Amino acid sequence: MDKFVINGGHKLYGTVNISGAKNAAVAIIPAVVLCDEPCIVENLPKIRDVNIILEILKTMGAKVTRIAGDSARVKIDPRGIKSSRVTCERLVGDMRASYYLLGALLGKFGSAVVPASGGCSFCDRPIDLHIKAFRLLGAKCNLLPDRVELTSENLQGRNIDFDVVSVGATMNAMLAAVRAPGKTVIARAAKEPHIVDLANFLNSMGANVRGAGTDVIKIKGVEKLHGCTYSIIPDQIEAGTYMTAVAAAGGDVKIKGVIPEHLESITTKLRDTGATVEEFDEMVRVIREEPLYGCNVKTSPHPGFPTDMQPQFVALLSAAEGKSKVIEAVWETRFSYVPQLRKMGADIIIENGNTVHVDGTDRLHGAKVRALDLRAGAAMIVAALGAEGTTEISDIRYIERGYEKVIEKLTALGADIRRVTYVESQEDVDL
Ligand code: EPZ
Repeated sequence: MDKFVINGGHKLYGTVNISGAKNAAVAIIPAVVLCDEPCIVENLPKIRDVNIILEILKTMGAKVTRIAGDSARVKIDPRGIKSSRVTCERLVGDMRASYYLLGALLGKFGSAVVPASGGCSFCDRPIDLHIKAFRLLGAKCNLLPDRVELTSENLQGRNIDFDVVSVGATMNAMLAAVRAPGKTVIARAAKEPHIVDLANFLNSMGANVRGAGTDVIKIKGVEKLHGCTYSIIPDQIEAGTYMTAVAAAGGDVKIKGVIPEHLESITTKLRDTGATVEEFDEMVRVIREEPLYGCNVKTSPHPGFPTDMQPQFVALLSAAEGKSKVIEAVWETRFSYVPQLRKMGADIIIENGNTVHVDGTDRLHGAKVRALDLRAGAAMIVAALGAEGTTEISDIRYIERGYEKVIEKLTALGADIRRVTYVESQEDVDL
């Protein structure tokens, strides 16, 4: 097994390039299934979740070719996919976003059988809204413990009004509706940058999707979709994580290849802590010289503060002067990582499962901690970079689901971070 060993206290300087967005890539790759021709997807992040979803498509019969000289470009030819039944339970069960195959296969074949998806499980992750959308479009849905089965006589465009804003349900509704005859109107749609990216990708294949990025998405069903070449947007959360890491460790870093508008809520909160954030066309620069102050944060769907930045921010606030309150308003609870931060000296109290009160200490100290999920793992890195002494982070496979070349990128900025192979002991299991 591998772990990250970080000696904290090194300020970060230089430039870091941001990779393509994970949460766009994991929806766009299944969306290729809807097409009748090959597509080239560019700026794919080289991360585990992307490898898994590409592997799933291959087992379904798609031909996936990495384009020589640029492994972030992949040609996906979906013409070999002849069945709407997905059989690779292990791969599908290894990631959450495999549920996008439901919408994509239903949209293409009028039916889908997909094993239960897995992925980061920081709390209960229902799919009732996805099912509601499929049913409204005319599908019969059978939810079994180990799989979801969808069938339809003739899918038809309809009005879909979500009661909760859901990224996944919005995307699945879009995938199922793009080829359904008639007009679909999705109300209370999610507005995240990856929703807009999926809509742009679908439109590049000849779909008619309007309004993505607003509360209402309108789709006119088209009969066929054609191949295209499409480049994925930069990863908002990877960029936000590096911004927060610089604030935690101190220093002066240019974070390049970003869309600064996607980072606004993160920028605002970092400025509240006293860090300097300068915005350029495709870059933000974060400078932190003085100690930080605590601040209050509440997560909400885009354009609010992203829940996927909440753990990293709590890590930052743990070593900021004064008190902070952080409310998690997207997920019922997302604080399972707090005991890990406490091992590093953080003073955090959880209230009602959805709020934390942080009493900032001068400095955290190194400890042996676990990456309990992707963003919890990112929070451990942020904490460790600013902490005194050595932090060992185990279960790094979660971090590698979503962060490309994290060691290389942080080392280039001056961090002291290594990957170490070790044999797991009972002490590690008990952590
Ligand atoms: C996506 O998950 C992201 N994952 C998550 O990022 C992210 O935390 C989340 O959106 C919110 O931004 C991917 O894009 C692969 P939701 P998703 O449906 O789509 C409730 C990461 O770290 N809900 O927007 O599964 C749900 O309980 C991951 O990269 C229902 O009630 O999230 C939650 O409270 C972790 N019924 C809220 O909606 C449903 O059917 C938002 O969830 C679906 C969701």
